Amino acid sequence: MKDKLEDLRQMRAMAKMGGGPERVADQHARGKLTARERVDALLDRDSFQELGRLATHNISDFGMANKKFPGDGVITGFGKIDGRRVAVYAQDFTVLGGSFSEVQSHKVCKIMELAMASGVPVIGLLDSGGARIQEGVRSLAAYGELFVRNVMASGVVPQISVQMGPCAGGAVYSPALTDFIVMVRNTSFMFITGPDVIKAVTGEDVDLNTLGGADVHNTESGVAQFAAPDELSALRLVKELLSYLPQNNMEDPPRVTPYDDPARADESLDHLVPDDSSEPYDMRQVISSVFDRGSFLEIHAHWALNALVGLARLDGFPVGVVANQPMFLAGVLDIQSSDKIARFVRFCDAFNLPLLTFVDCPGYLPGIEQEYGGIIRHGAKIIYSYCEATVPKICIVVRKAIGGAYIALSSKQMRTDLAYAWPTAEIAVMGPDGAVNVLYRQELAKAADPKAERERLVQAYRDKFHNPYTAADMGQIDEVIEPRSTRLRLVMALEILRSKVGSNPAKKHGLMPV
Ligand code: HXC
Repeated sequence: MKDKLEDLRQMRAMAKMGGGPERVADQHARGKLTARERVDALLDRDSFQELGRLATHNISDFGMANKKFPGDGVITGFGKIDGRRVAVYAQDFTVLGGSFSEVQSHKVCKIMELAMASGVPVIGLLDSGGARIQEGVRSLAAYGELFVRNVMASGVVPQISVQMGPCAGGAVYSPALTDFIVMVRNTSFMFITGPDVIKAVTGEDVDLNTLGGADVHNTESGVAQFAAPDELSALRLVKELLSYLPQNNMEDPPRVTPYDDPARADESLDHLVPDDSSEPYDMRQVISSVFDRGSFLEIHAHWALNALVGLARLDGFPVGVVANQPMFLAGVLDIQSSDKIARFVRFCDAFNLPLLTFVDCPGYLPGIEQEYGGIIRHGAKIIYSYCEATVPKICIVVRKAIGGAYIALSSKQMRTDLAYAWPTAEIAVMGPDGAVNVLYRQELAKAADPKAERERLVQAYRDKFHNPYTAADMGQIDEVIEPRSTRLRLVMALEILRSKVGSNPAKKHGLMPV
């Protein structure tokens, strides 16, 4: 027995060494932690229960018989973050470049199934060159097994992917099926295939960062939602993100002990919106003033800047926040912001996060580029996602809610529960200049003083439509509120809606425009 225990201890010790001291030193030299160090940094102390630590592959071709490492390049198991259970897997780049194998797949799929059955979030720490080339079709099939688990878990338990090295192939497609992707600046990269293969196939010369660095995917492609300056910050971000989320789709998000006065009124909001409706202001000021102090966790903060989305707390309760940002492109809806908003709305709906939408938007962006890019298809995603969402929905028209923007952004007709407006709201089918051109072209052509006549008509249009009162008369706006009282009104509104039960007709699934 003593010898057998010693054998076990030795095998477990070997598993801790990953690909060996040289590879570990190389990993550290690249500014990266090892998989095991990452798991330790992520989880509450002594909470990790590892599974499959001794699993190895059974491949002998391509010199693989001599390349067996206990665990086969991935650490899998369960642990706790702030006392709440999570499933974790961490790929070990020191073992065959973290490449994904049949054994890795069995291990990861196993914890995903247990996580789904028990309603526990799944966190992947990825550092992998993709499908293990030596395993051929086995490693491709391995990804198929993982993808199906990613999709089955989608909307059941939160899935978060942290990219912590050069990730290629399936190591980017699996994360793309999860809810959030966090990247680490300078040490993590995402691409379907790496620079060497690109050079061989297309002749293009490109470095890792230019091809798929954190900035590329956080500002250009929108593939990633977060960029962290280093690995420990990335892991802290995961913990922060989880603090807003329920463990699964059957639970409510966790309330924290309230620390901010629900009746706190901010007088500065009364003067925030400029008199000139073409002048910008920072919608972040509205958000930081209305929600619990310091609670706004922005998502996709560097992409599609004309829209803001993120998680926040109101009287301790987590909520999803959507807003236009007049500081960029006047807060217009374009292809990218449509994708950003629609994705976030669906996430909130899946995980029982009430949706609060702050509107200041001149409409969908007109133009050839947008039309050719499919603004109709992309813009429709916003409409689809709000119409489909059954969580409590509240909208606040802060200033412009023109045309499509009024109706698409959480309008009452699209099943929004409560609609508020500030006195600065402007609700119309189109802006005054466009409307006067369409309605009075002939009159203007005949006018003795076309400029004066145009100004008169524009003013008449503004007087009629650039206020919230017609919409309030018709019940499309429930209440025109003083900006300073927004926080308290929303706290009270959410209290009403907390027990809301919403549903959709039975169907296999809808056909969200993609
Ligand atoms: C087997 C791999 C591997 C892989 C890397 N390695 N990727 N082994 N299968 N997919 C091994 C290398 O041979 C090397 O082993 C070690 O990992 C470290 O790799 P390096 O190349 O030295 O590291 P680096 O220079 O940092 O480059 C990392 C990389 C590059 C950019 C990830 O290795 C690369 O381009 N790999 C291939 C990426 C790719 O095209 N994957 C797509 C797979 S197809 P030694 O022993 O020599 O040090 C796929 C399909 C999924 O995933 C289906 C999707 C729908």
